[in-house]
Amino acid sequence: MRNLVTVDTGLKTHVLPAGAAATATAAGILAEGGLVAFPTETVYGLGADAGNAPAIARLYQAKGRPAFNPLIAHVADLGAARRIALFDGQALRLAEAFWPGPLTLVLPKALSCPVAELATAGLDTVAIRIPAHKVARDIIKAFGGAVVAPSANLSGHVSPTTAEHVNGDLAGRIDLIVDGGPVEVGVESTIVGCFSDPVLLRPGGLTRAEIERVLGHPLQSPPQDAENDSQPIAPGMLASHYAPRTPVRLNASDVHIGEALLSFGPAKVARRECASVEMNLSTRGDLAEAAANLFGYLRTLDKRNADAIAVMPIPEDGLGEAINDRLRRAAVGR
Ligand code: TXA
Ligand code: MG
Repeated sequence: MRNLVTVDTGLKTHVLPAGAAATATAAGILAEGGLVAFPTETVYGLGADAGNAPAIARLYQAKGRPAFNPLIAHVADLGAARRIALFDGQALRLAEAFWPGPLTLVLPKALSCPVAELATAGLDTVAIRIPAHKVARDIIKAFGGAVVAPSANLSGHVSPTTAEHVNGDLAGRIDLIVDGGPVEVGVESTIVGCFSDPVLLRPGGLTRAEIERVLGHPLQSPPQDAENDSQPIAPGMLASHYAPRTPVRLNASDVHIGEALLSFGPAKVARRECASVEMNLSTRGDLAEAAANLFGYLRTLDKRNADAIAVMPIPEDGLGEAINDRLRRAAVGR
């Protein structure tokens, strides 16, 4: 029921446990233009050779992703990043402070940027990051080039935090899933556009406060038309991007009969016993634990055929900014 698009491509999707054999197989498949899902510290990514336009076309197809939504190029080190994009002083400071890690920088393309136009959706900027997850890094190194990788879910679904999530969305559509177990962070990378003044394009696994501490000044907010579907600035900002099928009700202080409850922390909620099912993102109120659980719990609750998912309030500080951002998108529905 969950998959809106069910296409039998006849493709057999292999699943391999992370390790030397999986790394070599993954690198070989990428080199041949195939599609490989692998864990990063944030969420599972669906990788393709960043320089291979036909492979990237297949990637968009496999995800059912609108072609205007550009991809992040994942690289192994700063040297590779600097062959792709132009770093000014602030971009370099952020890269040095936070890479490898859950930060994506959107930068002007370098002169002979090796990332295919299709992956950047024709923009003159490119999104880059160096992931911190060993499995992702090993695969990128073994492949020897940049790997574009959106989250490994069908377009519009929540991002996958386990290999099983990937398999549920993309079996039969991609070549390989490398299973490295559940991811650590659980929400996507924070995206910062580095032009004159760095702009927070998408809150994510690295908090605004950590970035501002390194910059020494506040991050700018994106221009107001970031939610405009026809001219996306960070199209991941599309209002309905992270949507389960079940309606989501935010800031719930009570539970209606027939609702599933996504709770947070030790706080009380009225009529808790009315919930058909409850999952607590973090009983001790820890935002990092909540981020790691968020997408998996949304998927689980979405399968329970509840009338709605009632979500208790979550504080806006630290990782709460990214969690609330994803929850607001989930609440817009599809
Ligand atoms: O944590 C992550 O970032 C994960 C893992 C796999 O690395 N990847 C991920 O990719 O979340 P994706 O494709 O689901 O989201 C990438 C976001 C999209 O919102 C896209 O619009 C934005 O990055 N983006 C990519 N290139 C851009 C550019 N040149 N300018 C503005 N936004 C860009
Ligand atoms: Mg995504």
